Formats: sequence, structure tokens, C-alpha cells
Amino acid sequence: MTISRRTALQVGGIGAIGAAALTVPLTQAQASTPSTLALRNFPKRFAVPLPIPPVLAPKPSPDGQTSTYYEVTETAGSAAIVPGLNTPILGYNGIFPGPTISVNKGEPIRLKVRNRLPLFHPSWGHVLDTSTHLHGSASLPQYDGYANDLTAKDQSKTYHYPNFQPARTLWYHDHAVHNTAQNAYSGLAAQYHLHDDDERRLLPQGKFDVPLTVTDAMFSANGKLSYDDKTQSGLWGDVILVNGAPWPVMRVQRRIYRFRVLNASISRSYRFALSGGGPVTVVATDGGLMPVAQTVTSWRHAGAERYEILIDFSKYAAGTRVELRNLSNKNNIDFDYTGKVMAFDVTADPVDTSGPAATVMPTTLVPSTAMSLKASDAVKTRHFRLKRDLNIWTIDGMTWEDVVDSEYQKVLADPDYNAVEIWSFENSSGGWYHPLHIHLVDFQILSRNGRAPFPYEKGPKDVVYVGEGETVRLLMKFEHHKGRYMVHCHNLPHEDHDMMAQFSVGYDAGDYDANDPVYADPAKYD
Ligand code: C2O
Ligand code: CU
Ligand code: CU
Repeated sequence: MTISRRTALQVGGIGAIGAAALTVPLTQAQASTPSTLALRNFPKRFAVPLPIPPVLAPKPSPDGQTSTYYEVTETAGSAAIVPGLNTPILGYNGIFPGPTISVNKGEPIRLKVRNRLPLFHPSWGHVLDTSTHLHGSASLPQYDGYANDLTAKDQSKTYHYPNFQPARTLWYHDHAVHNTAQNAYSGLAAQYHLHDDDERRLLPQGKFDVPLTVTDAMFSANGKLSYDDKTQSGLWGDVILVNGAPWPVMRVQRRIYRFRVLNASISRSYRFALSGGGPVTVVATDGGLMPVAQTVTSWRHAGAERYEILIDFSKYAAGTRVELRNLSNKNNIDFDYTGKVMAFDVTADPVDTSGPAATVMPTTLVPSTAMSLKASDAVKTRHFRLKRDLNIWTIDGMTWEDVVDSEYQKVLADPDYNAVEIWSFENSSGGWYHPLHIHLVDFQILSRNGRAPFPYEKGPKDVVYVGEGETVRLLMKFEHHKGRYMVHCHNLPHEDHDMMAQFSVGYDAGDYDANDPVYADPAKYD
């Protein structure tokens, strides 16, 4: 569905109301668009430079433990997003996106998260208990941001992140039970980069390695974020932000750049493409490098998916503006400017060709455990239906409430430790898509409706787009840790109501679990 501001103006009544009334509607964005900002406060396209979030510096370890130590504080903050107004946000260190954490493979870290948020959300009133999930990390269950492992106001929790996996783009975001959507939407989200030798050898680094966190938002007339999830179906804003800035523009040299594209929108999915239809080379998926780079002209990108892409700007003349656009997908709500994301201005600046992949696209990359698995390795196949039952979203009939009611014991599946299994997820609805996320594992997409996955999906994944009428088959190994982990839809209003379940690796019902996700290492007052 496309709702055009121009169409709404015509229908809503230039003729009917008459010219005298025009001064009133023209001062505001149309009611048919979700933002109610005055036009002078509605952001212009390509008017602000792309901001790059700061990289978090480690701190001295408070207790002599050797692993690198970081701290972030969740606080209310204020952001300059729409011209002329301040937008109250919640952020890690008060900013959105939060600070990027950049680490090396083999370097375990601890991250202390301090909750200094207001007790109640200033706009929506819920209690601001939080749980921090590092999405893309095989963390122990008690450090995985389990939805009910909550950190209350004035408490803190020190998370342990192992960083033994291959290089990848991860992100940390709030995962508080029933409030993940509003908390992440308010700003509790940030990228986390895990580097290794393969990626340093093959892909652009430093200022040519650029995070792009894409979100959408809607604003009230006073600049505050507004929230409308259409009866828990999803939120589709009319303003597109990249790294927290509306439709920004980035100046680029005529060489290859690497972009870490994270869709941190709580519901919206995108179909990204460049203006002019130019090629984009996908080199990494959620779980890191693909075996072979894939060149595409557009790709479908749901919430929480990460695609690392390379764009060769030497193919464009200096002075060219290349837009990153959104061709959209079924069951999104589009507005006048949601087809635009950001722009790259190709400059005549001297070209720095130092470092890997500055001028030549890499082709063969590296294998990974997930992509080396064979379907014949699987010892079990399980099938799960994603659907709406009586106004509640469910995974094979299970909700998170069922898990809570069972004292966190009820599970959707109980694979053996190190078992390889095939999990298939079926969405037989034509009315919605579900970005399905499985914690702990990296999986390989075997098929979608019996066909090969899209070329850009041929890498290790932890979120899969389960589109309308689609069934996906996923192959994965339940390695690294035993314990209980969440599996859920990453359309966050779906997740919160109540499309989330859990699975247990390596335990039988009643076994003692030293890594209990709620009780093993709870938050403390500090
Ligand atoms: Cu990105 Cu369970 O979440
Ligand atoms: Cu996750
Ligand atoms: Cu969903």
C-alpha cells in the first residue's frame, strides 16, 4: 500500500475545502502519514551528512580479571533528528545508535550494562526494565539477553561475550519481555563488529568499512517519537533514518567501500537497490563471510538481518549522486519518501587505494561451519508453523507466556549437544512476513518453497525472511553451549505479542542447568 501525501492533499480537499483552508493543511504533514510534524520540521532528503557512531573504548578492569572490560549506561537522551526540534530517546550512553563495540576474534570481553533509565517510559508508561542481547553471538544463556533476565533501574549486569566465532557484524539491542519493540524503537540498539584475519585480508577496513543502521520512525508535532503498531501487526514510519539521521548523504571516493547494513527497524522490511540499477556485491551475511561473493542488483532485507555489501564507486563519474533506494516488499506500508534511504556523492577527491579490496572485488571468500554442513548430516527434521491464533502470534502454537507459565521449562525443541538438525518454518499466510531468528546458532538456508535460497542468502545466517506463503528449510548444528535459548519473530511487535519460544540444547527435562538463563547470574544493584 502506498499513501502519497500529494494524493491525500488532492483527495482530502483542495477543491472541497477551498483555497482559504489551504494555509491550515499545508502547515502539517498529512494525517494519512503517521508523522504529524509541521512541514518545516519534516526532514528533507539528503540534507545531512551520514553520522558514524563513536567506537566504545574499553575501561580498566575493576576486578583484575583479564578479559577486556567495557561499560555502557542506558539513559534517556535527546537527539537532533528532525529540523528545529529535539527528540527524546533512550540510548546506550544516551545516544542512538549506541556506541559501536569493535573487537577481535579470540578476545573475550565483558560488557557492564547499567540501567539508569527512568522507572517508566516517558511516553508509553511501561516499566523500563531491560535485558541486553548481543545478536549474532553464541553467548552462554545467562549472558544472552533472555527476555526475563531483567536489569531494573539502578541495577547493572555484566555480560560475558566469548568472541570465538568468525568475524561478523553483530548488534546489541534491548530484549525486555513484552517491551522489546518500544525499547529498541526508542533507541536501545547499536552495532558490534567482530574482526578476524580473513576479513582483514579480504575486505575494506577503517574508514572504508562503514556501518549503516537503517530504521524507520514516526514523529509527533513536538518532535517526540510516536508509536502505532496497528494492533500489534507492526510499525511503519514515514521517516527513514540511517545511523539515526534522516535520509543522510555520504561523500565517497572513487573506490570500493564496504557497508555493514543492519535493518534495525522494528517491523519494516526493505528491498534495497541503487539508483540506476548498479551492482552491489554481497560478501557477508548475519554470521559472517560467505563462501563466495554474490553480485546482485537488489536484495530483500528484514529486521535484524545483516548484509555486508561492497559498492565500487570507481564505476561512477565524479559528481554523480548514487541513491540507496527501497523498492519495498509485500505487506509494508509505504509513504512518499520511504522509497529513499540515503545517498552517496561520488567526489573527485584523491583516491586512497591502500588496504584490501580497494579496487578489485573479492570473489572467493571463506567457508564456515554452517555453510559446510550437508543436509545428510542432519539427525532430525522439525517443522514449525508461524501464525496468528486468536489475535496472538505463535510459533507452532507456543507463546512466550507459555514458557513463563512453565517457570521457563517448556521448550519447542530439545536438540542434542552437537546435533545437526533441519528446522523448517512455514508461513502460510498471505498477510504478513516473519523474520525468524534463532539464538545461539548460525544456520544455512537449504531451501525456500523447495527452491534454492536467494544468491545473497548463501552465507551463514541467524535470521531468515519467511515471506508470505513461504516455507524455509534451515540446517544447523547445535554447538558451543548447552542450555535454553530463545527463538522468535524479529518483527518486534510480533515478538512482544507473543511470537517467541525457546529450545533447549543438550539437556533432558529436569536436568540441573548451571547456565540457567534467569537465575545463573542475575543483575545487581550497584
Ligand atoms: Cu535481535 Cu532475540 O534478537
Ligand atoms: Cu539474537
Ligand atoms: Cu512475525
